[in-house]
Amino acid sequence: MSEFDIKKEMKLGRITVKKILKAENTSVLLGQELTVKGWARSVRASKKFSFVVINDGSCQDSLQVVVDATLNNYDKVSSALMGTALSFKGKIVQSQGKGQGLEMQATACEVIGTVDDTYPLQKKATSLEFLRENAHLRMRTNTFGAVFRLRHGLSFATHQFFSDLGFFNVHTPIISGSDAEGAGQMFAVTTFDLSKPILDAKGKVDFSKDFFARPALLTVSGQLQGECSAMGLGSIYTFGPTFRAENSNTARHACEFWMVEPEVAFADLEEVALLASDYVRYLITYSLTHYKKEIEFLAMREGGPGEIHIKNLEQIANAPFAKISYTEAIEILNKSGHKFEFPHSWGNELQTEHEKYLAEIHFKGPVIVTDYPKHFKAFYMKQNSDGKTVRAMDLLVPGIGELIGGSQREHDYEKLLSRIRELNMHEESLWWYLDLRKYGSVPHGGFGLGFERALMFISSMNNIRDVLPFPRTPRSLDF
Ligand code: 4AD
Ligand code: MG
Repeated sequence: MSEFDIKKEMKLGRITVKKILKAENTSVLLGQELTVKGWARSVRASKKFSFVVINDGSCQDSLQVVVDATLNNYDKVSSALMGTALSFKGKIVQSQGKGQGLEMQATACEVIGTVDDTYPLQKKATSLEFLRENAHLRMRTNTFGAVFRLRHGLSFATHQFFSDLGFFNVHTPIISGSDAEGAGQMFAVTTFDLSKPILDAKGKVDFSKDFFARPALLTVSGQLQGECSAMGLGSIYTFGPTFRAENSNTARHACEFWMVEPEVAFADLEEVALLASDYVRYLITYSLTHYKKEIEFLAMREGGPGEIHIKNLEQIANAPFAKISYTEAIEILNKSGHKFEFPHSWGNELQTEHEKYLAEIHFKGPVIVTDYPKHFKAFYMKQNSDGKTVRAMDLLVPGIGELIGGSQREHDYEKLLSRIRELNMHEESLWWYLDLRKYGSVPHGGFGLGFERALMFISSMNNIRDVLPFPRTPRSLDF
């Protein structure tokens, strides 16, 4: 860090703990009188001096401040409870204790905000369930500090990856007039007073009198608008919130989650699959470069040694992913001798237990499964010549199951129209989507990565509720 940086930070009134502890050139810092502000993680007091450990959220580590009993506010600071907001001015010195670290020798201290004994985050281990009920406070813990710094990292890495490849980020709408997945799991958007909506002559709700003069919904995917965009911009990606009213109370489903959806013109499924594996591997490499401490900490918290998780991630980042067809996947499951709860003959959907078996036990790593039966896949997927399967792909990873779902899209107007009709979908509302196939249609494809699932995979957090800042799940809307 340069002198300039330090001066700039001082103008802001404080330097972050990260700038001190992660400094490459500590000689610039040593002997400087700086100000840090943060929250007490622990206070060890004695008559002559106290050790106060403060964290300001800037990094996983906390700064130790040595406070001499001769200082003005000594009594207040040495009796501060965990969670108290504090400001310290002091000299940066080499730590006397462990290793080579830096610490602060306080010359002045101030209590900014106190806590009392009703503060819910006491030192004793707080369970993730308890912290979920206190989501407004949980960012103050080591665990959630780590999760949300890593979440930021994955978000930043996503933009970096696609932008470097020449993809453009498109902001697709959140309010939608069509069901992009055709799965019927959508939340309605209305300005009607639901206790007395306007009815038509037949006594049905008259949506022509509603705000958009038709039914409106929260989007389940930005894909269809992403396709429109790719047909002009070439390669695009969306990154936004999506909403699903599926009432599945699992550790991997949320009603509001974020999806990253690239869409590429002039591409087939092979290219889309390569893009998916490059992207996931980039996310891992980026996280290990910038957020290793966070990942190690979280892996240990979830009970495993951090180094093993890091080694696994490194391995995954360094090798291309396995790729098999759905038909081959079914053969593997049939030959496995493993007892599954759900059926796994050809034509059945792969359930999480099957996906996990393939990724965790059979391949011991990520695997891309392609060419699924068309009857349980979305209407827009490119139909194979066998008449039974579509050019779909899912990326399955250990611990999670499905991380990515994608496909090559049907770009033939007649085939797409007949599939829409076959499925009794609302053809009129998809006129614009069909237009893409009428004018300058090209082979194209893309995928959607569940952003929370990627974060779970890398952080080893087991519940989607613990990687969303304020999770939305069935019957849960606090905060
Ligand atoms: O497989 P899905 O439904 O695919 C689509 O929505 C396509 N339109 C994507 C595309 O081709 N552009 O969803 C994509 C991913 C899943 O693989 C999963 O990781 C995640 O989104 N996902 C969820 N994540 C959390 N909670 C839920 N309820 C999710 N539903 C899907
Ligand atoms: Mg899917």
